[in-house]
Amino acid sequence: MDKLLEVKNLQVELLTPYGRVYGVRGASFDISEGETVGLVGESGCGKTLTAKSVLGLHRPDRTEISGSILYRLKSGERIDLLKLSQRELRKIRGSEISMVLQDSSMSLCPIIPIGKQMADVITVHTGADRKEALGIAEKLLEDVGLTEPAMRLKCLPGELSGGQLQRICIAMAISSHPRLLIADEPTTALDSITQAQILALIKRLSAERKMAVLLVTHNFSVVKRLCDAVCVMYSGRIVERGPAHEVMNAPRHIYTSDLLKSIPDGTKRRLSAVPGSLPDVYKKIEGCPYRERCSLGCEECARAAEKEVGPGHLTVCIAAGGDKVG
Ligand SMILES: Nc1ncnc2c1ncn2[C@@H]1O[C@H](COP(=O)(O)OP(=O)(O)O)[C@@H](O)[C@H]1O
Ligand SMILES: [Mg+2]
Repeated sequence: MDKLLEVKNLQVELLTPYGRVYGVRGASFDISEGETVGLVGESGCGKTLTAKSVLGLHRPDRTEISGSILYRLKSGERIDLLKLSQRELRKIRGSEISMVLQDSSMSLCPIIPIGKQMADVITVHTGADRKEALGIAEKLLEDVGLTEPAMRLKCLPGELSGGQLQRICIAMAISSHPRLLIADEPTTALDSITQAQILALIKRLSAERKMAVLLVTHNFSVVKRLCDAVCVMYSGRIVERGPAHEVMNAPRHIYTSDLLKSIPDGTKRRLSAVPGSLPDVYKKIEGCPYRERCSLGCEECARAAEKEVGPGHLTVCIAAGGDKVG
């Protein structure tokens, strides 16, 4: 499969009044055409910062970004998204790459009907007039599984449930037929039944539209349901990445294995919590960032670099050797 997105050694540092935050410390991963890739890791590990970097959504005056994010346009040309101006990025947003933000329903204006908000977005991306845009919006709401779409268009956001609003945000994100959809924790705020419905919706849309998806989540069960490949992030680094079934069935990083032990899958009698917490974001870290918290952490881990342990399966764990860990 052709690579659509290649993130190489991405570093995102935030300049705050309290000092420099090392938010992303050299993350590398790829997404192929039509592939669904999960970016998984506990809260605060840098998932959202990574996702936002793809679309240049950081404040330029308070952020230093390095590395490269290569993207292959519809025309076949490859560009580095980190080198584009805001004006050039605006052309990419929507038409090539769309994002459903964490808490995306909060981005809807509470006093404007859904139909008008959707039509505004559709008009910008397609050039359709108002009437045509409303027609497209109605069809999109039907596509994302909302009943009585014409009536929903007249509603204000406060008149709809969390699940319905999330469907609307997904509808807006796909309205411009992006080739890559970035969904940041799209189901975290929803109950488990609605969660399953939204995941099924993303799966269906990505298959129907041959759209690649970067699915950001802190939840391995979401990865299990949806993803072809997974990147496990810890303290700003991708510590393990590879085909989803392989990473989940034969993890090659102690963090992945610890994380998997902490999720309910119906077979474990006892779940184990990962002891300790993420390292200080104000400090630089070399090598494997999990070493202080890891049961096998040693001095050598400070020099650990990413290595391949199987086809497309990489880890920074020096304990990974030839066998699965944990
Ligand atoms: N605007 C900001 N100012 C200061 N620190 C931030 C800012 N945005 C994110 N961070 C910090 O960067 C780290 C990574 O954040 P984030 O990417 O949002 O994590 P995740 O999405 O994995 O929960 C966290 O420690 C967070 O507190
Ligand atoms: Mg986040």
